[in-house]
Amino acid sequence: MTPPERCTVTLISNTQETTSFVCPSKISILRAAKNAGLELSAGCMQGRCYTCRSQLLEGTVVNSRSLSRYATVDPADLGNGRILLCSVTPTTDVIVAPEGPWESSVDQSQARDHTSTGSS
Ligand code: FES
Repeated sequence: MTPPERCTVTLISNTQETTSFVCPSKISILRAAKNAGLELSAGCMQGRCYTCRSQLLEGTVVNSRSLSRYATVDPADLGNGRILLCSVTPTTDVIVAPEGPWESSVDQSQARDHTSTGSS
């Protein structure tokens, strides 16, 4: 089955704050978040530091790039539903809970056309 050209990614924080953005196929969730004006916790961007580790709550993801020679695990399946946002792309709409904080650099009043936030 061919994955869709774009999927919706919804992030949920440990305080139940949510935000959503579109992730085109073949780019990582972390890159798509950055393109949407969101800064998520990240470090190496190569699947090695685990700073971007997150819990996949709904949906499916696959590797967005070839595994580096340093990778010893599948970033789309670290076990217990954990994934590395820098190294995976969604194959369905997904809901993800990043372990680290995130912040938006976009004026939310301008972003409402593309994202939704909170419970309002
Ligand atoms: S940013 Fe280092 S593993 Fe994702």
